[in-house]
Amino acid sequence: TLKACLFDLDGVIVDTARYHFLAWKQLAEQLGIDFTEEHNELLKGVSRMRSLDIILEIGGKTLSEEEKTALANKKNEVYLEYILKMDESEILPGVKSFITELKNNHIRVALGSASKNARLILKRLNIENLFDAVIDGNKVSEAKPDPEVFLNGAAELQVEPEACVVFEDAVAGIEAAQNAGMFCVGIGDITILKKANLVIPGFADFNLEKLQACMQEDSY
Ligand code: G6P
Ligand code: MG
Repeated sequence: TLKACLFDLDGVIVDTARYHFLAWKQLAEQLGIDFTEEHNELLKGVSRMRSLDIILEIGGKTLSEEEKTALANKKNEVYLEYILKMDESEILPGVKSFITELKNNHIRVALGSASKNARLILKRLNIENLFDAVIDGNKVSEAKPDPEVFLNGAAELQVEPEACVVFEDAVAGIEAAQNAGMFCVGIGDITILKKANLVIPGFADFNLEKLQACMQEDSY
């Protein structure tokens, strides 16, 4: 039986991918690297340092660790300017009422994100109090598809992994959920997220009853 739901943040609760893109784009331009929205897809669910490495690979550049740390910090400063302007209106449609429905049904809720800015974003969106546990980029050492972030979430909630469902928009995140032995709902395009147990375009037309029906159907 379902006891807990674990949510990714970027692309599931809020569309921060656009802000990540604008901030990376600005940095890439300064480095003379042509960085496109298509490239940005590669950065979803990926840590800040790994994202920078991917951009440098695209531009064929090699930099020292010190230079890379400075650039990653610079990107984050620009990103934070966007984040600090965010408010509740940027919560994706239906997700807040879905989480509220879970809580009313005594299902525990956690955040499982690679972002070091996750708590700040939850505060800006005024939904920090909806989460029984927050596992973010400051708490994990292994990036998705490693299951660490979701296993930590389950442990903090004191729920066994088999009783957890993960909501994810990134391929690496879906793999992480599967590596954790959890049922996974993909948010987005079914052709990209085909490994998930269930794929929905968003939460607008979704509820607990539908989730439970799909979990029963799935041989899971
Ligand atoms: C999420 C996003 C990634 C981002 C990562 C780190 O996984 O999908 O695009 O790079 O978090 O975010 P941060 O806020 O720590 O730079
Ligand atoms: Mg995501």
